Amino acid sequence: MSYIEYIEETHVGGAEILIAKKDFKNDYKNDILKEMNSEGIYEPPKTLSFVSPSKINHIPQEEYDQLVEPYREAMTRLEVRMNGLNEDYRKKYRDYPIHNIQARIKSRKSIEKKLDSKSLPITAYTAKDNLTDIAGIRVICYFVEDIFSILSLVKAQTDLLILKESDYIHYPKESGYKSYHMVLGIPVYRIEGMQYYPVEIQFRTLAMDLWASMEHRICYKGETPDETTDAFRLYSGELSEMERRMKHLLDEIRRDNPQEPMQ
Ligand code: GTP
Ligand code: MG
Repeated sequence: MSYIEYIEETHVGGAEILIAKKDFKNDYKNDILKEMNSEGIYEPPKTLSFVSPSKINHIPQEEYDQLVEPYREAMTRLEVRMNGLNEDYRKKYRDYPIHNIQARIKSRKSIEKKLDSKSLPITAYTAKDNLTDIAGIRVICYFVEDIFSILSLVKAQTDLLILKESDYIHYPKESGYKSYHMVLGIPVYRIEGMQYYPVEIQFRTLAMDLWASMEHRICYKGETPDETTDAFRLYSGELSEMERRMKHLLDEIRRDNPQEPMQ
């Protein structure tokens, strides 16, 4: 059975969201927790044949490595595809919409922390069934227009599934956060057949990325004073305005020095 069952539409905070339902077919009975005896040797607990998965608070390194392997492949495939689209775009329009791409696999600790925050059993199975951001790529564009150009190219890729889409550009978050998020299903082929693996993709302009990186750095830990929160809400608008003015400068230069698209 494929990883994806069906897709439905919903709305979150004004942003259009598409959600794919996954099939849940875990059998936690196999999660036998071993306890350390007085000699420091791990053995199954005496009173229970299996222990509630909620008592397990880590994913063994070997299971983590196995879990992330296909995600790593899916992420690489998407990164290569994005670079290809950027290159094709350059040939056609003599323009690079993408400034740079960052890719990351969620660390074992972050996966454990996220499952715990969702009160889910901390296992590789629950990670696979519940997390769509184990693999993530961030595509940093120059201008907001570039994001929507690249998006239309991504949407035309018939082999990729769009599992979730959140437009925080037209509908910024309360914090002032702007970005366009998608979760794409990327086909990964194995001996057993093909499975779609989710990869989260965040499209941002350089200005949006500056805002998000600074906000993460300054507001992430501990209590954030109200003035700081207010300042960031203001900067979000100011950065968009600055970006718009820079785009205007570029458009003026282009108008005076028109470039013919390459054939
Ligand atoms: P998560 O459980 O955090 O993944 O939330 P979610 O599944 O609802 O996803 P969401 O669309 O909120 O995007 C989550 C990711 O977007 C985070 O991991 C951040 O990279 C980024 N993000 C979302 N909101 C903010 C914000 O207010 N500030 C910053 N700096 N980043 C944000
Ligand atoms: Mg996330």
